[in-house]
Amino acid sequence: MLRIDVITIFPGLFDAFVGESIVGIAVRGGQLSVETHDLRSYTTDPHRTVDDSPFGGGAGMVMKPEPLVTAIEALAGPKEPNRSARVVMLTPQGQKLDQNRLSVLSREQQLVLVCGRYEGVDQRAIDLAVDEEVSIGDYVLSGGEVPAMALIEGVARLLPGVLGNPESALNESFQGPTLEGPQYTRPAEFRGHAVPAVLRSGDHGAVQRWRSEQSMEYTRQRRPDLLRPPEGEKQS
Ligand code: ADE
Repeated sequence: MLRIDVITIFPGLFDAFVGESIVGIAVRGGQLSVETHDLRSYTTDPHRTVDDSPFGGGAGMVMKPEPLVTAIEALAGPKEPNRSARVVMLTPQGQKLDQNRLSVLSREQQLVLVCGRYEGVDQRAIDLAVDEEVSIGDYVLSGGEVPAMALIEGVARLLPGVLGNPESALNESFQGPTLEGPQYTRPAEFRGHAVPAVLRSGDHGAVQRWRSEQSMEYTRQRRPDLLRPPEGEKQS
């Protein structure tokens, strides 16, 4: 069972999310638990303040360190000397999330996800209490809540027993080095467009070959970067 605790100022955003679809299936199946924690309940002032203006000036607000570190330590324990939970903060400054990272995170016992706000989080809170910063891409959202949901859904479907057919996780784009090619279902003809004949031929070998050619072609056209060797492994 993977336990995920989410620290957020908008816990209500997660209500429907954790009950529906693959995440709901994982929760009901006992492979996953998701608990949300309102950051404001870790404040001590009457206004339940979670942010303040930045030292040095500038636009926007910065998340204060005290409630954040208190919340993280209440859920995960102190960072030093060692804790069993992994504390991940969602921020555009983080390492870009990919399938490999999801797979590593899905094997943890407990994840504490910290939803920052995009203007920023006091650096001391990050240094003192966060293990890892993760971004879901090079674009800016207003907070880490939607990125946290992306991460939760991404790990939920990798937990053993969650997908009815474990092969569907294996064949997909990014589980391997190429993108998944086109898929078709009934009807065999739609608005004058027929399904490629090979898929209806019953020849499983031909179908396999066609799919891998299509997968390679899609990747060449759409994501040629996936076919290039990673930086540092280039031949000179
Ligand atoms: N918060 C705001 N934008 C984000 C992004 N792209 N990834 C992760 N967290 C974020």
